[in-house]
Amino acid sequence: MKIFLDTAEIEEIRTAARWGVLDGVTTNPTLFAKVGGSYDDVLKQICDITSGPVSAEGIAEDVKGMLEEGRHFAKLAPNIVVKVPMSEEGLEAISRFAEEGIKTNCTLIFTANQGLLAAKAGASILSPFIGRLDDINEEGMIVVRELVAIVELHDIETEVLTASVRHPRHVTEAALAGSHIATLPFKVLQQMVHHPLTDKGIKTFREDWEKARKAADEQAAAEPTPVGSSRQN
Ligand code: E4P
Repeated sequence: MKIFLDTAEIEEIRTAARWGVLDGVTTNPTLFAKVGGSYDDVLKQICDITSGPVSAEGIAEDVKGMLEEGRHFAKLAPNIVVKVPMSEEGLEAISRFAEEGIKTNCTLIFTANQGLLAAKAGASILSPFIGRLDDINEEGMIVVRELVAIVELHDIETEVLTASVRHPRHVTEAALAGSHIATLPFKVLQQMVHHPLTDKGIKTFREDWEKARKAADEQAAAEPTPVGSSRQN
């Protein structure tokens, strides 16, 4: 399963790239609002860090506006993927982008049927939002499982991206469900790295090593110099 970062924070993206685990990035207007500046500049910087897909999302609600925004984003870098919301207008825009060879990520998917329609319209990525479903007492992962099954059963050329991830367990479940991609907040990526027993183990190994080295040094210092080993002048 590919791992994307769900952020517009450049330092977080650089860090994940250095760890060797970054396959792409998703952004949205809310994530961009947290960093500010020029969205185009932020997107270009991200595309300089990763050659994987970088999702850029506009705010237009009509087809004409969606197409204008998307065409503009697509010119910024070759790895830009245009995020289009699931709606009647969004489906039309996805279909037009597909004709133009512009890749799209259909966002704000909350049912398998929405995902199926987006795939039929030509979306390269389908983004079910699992955390937001969990928030309203539904089971978001069901949509991921259903969509993956539909895509595989009908051999549809698209990828299911598990979005709105809230915690590491979501990532494990997405991988087990066969999700092609999961996009994670940086905090969740960090949580995946750590485990209290790993951290404790690293500390204990270091302490035991230092203890053994100190004991060896003390023993060497206490031992009498063997006969014949002193320097002869
Ligand atoms: C995905 O592309 C979205 O940007 C994101 O996962 C939304 O997550 P949220 O529900 O935490 O805002």
